[in-house]
Amino acid sequence: MKLVVCKNYDEVSAKAAEYFINLVKAKPNAVLGLATGSSPIGMYKLMIADHEQNGTSYKDVKTYNLDEYVGLDGSNNQSYHYFMNENLFKGLDIPLENTHVPSGIGNHDTLAAEYDAVLDELGGADLQILGIGSNGHIAFNEPGTSFASTTHIVDLTEETIQDNARFFDSIDDVPRESVTMGIASIMKAKKIVLIATSAHKAEAIKGMIEGPVTEDLPASILQQHPDVVVIVDTEAASLLDK
Ligand code: GLP
Repeated sequence: MKLVVCKNYDEVSAKAAEYFINLVKAKPNAVLGLATGSSPIGMYKLMIADHEQNGTSYKDVKTYNLDEYVGLDGSNNQSYHYFMNENLFKGLDIPLENTHVPSGIGNHDTLAAEYDAVLDELGGADLQILGIGSNGHIAFNEPGTSFASTTHIVDLTEETIQDNARFFDSIDDVPRESVTMGIASIMKAKKIVLIATSAHKAEAIKGMIEGPVTEDLPASILQQHPDVVVIVDTEAASLLDK
């Protein structure tokens, strides 16, 4: 794991965006693994600015996203479909049919298998962006999830529901289930950039980098991936030994 400690969120966003922009310039038909949450918003803004100013084109890029809330369709402004359209896709020249976000509606029993079929067709991402939950989750793989997991439906933990309540009018509006790529599927990415800011993430970052590899802290599996860059601000890095 390579660790990069930055001053603040803006610097983290700039460093992460650089990896994505450089990849798309070098490989115009790259497959990008994308994430939601507040962490990647700054990076997405910079990718859009670069597209507008320098003409970096996404017309041959393909993307897939990590997760979606069960029960929310793409027109719901709390859905991750909506988030991706608003925060990234509509600012780029990427054809929407090249973008893939798991469906949160439809037959509950087949949602996961349907998304696995999409992922199989795309192959692993050339580059995957990840955030991290304060309990060490990646995507919506909560503590205790098998490292061998593929796409599955999960019951969100109370901690995650509380963390994500800030995006909703009330905590009761936060969906209780999500469909998420599994840990084995995420590990197929050729390269992974994980970003985190604020003291709220410090414990998870410490466990991920310095703790044992354990299903109790899902992100710790990244210690076994051959090419991971962790980009954090000083607060998220504050509990690290060195
Ligand atoms: C959600 C998402 C994760 C994300 C995490 C952290 O639970 N499913 O993919 O990494 O939140 O979000 P934030 O970046 O807002 O702290």
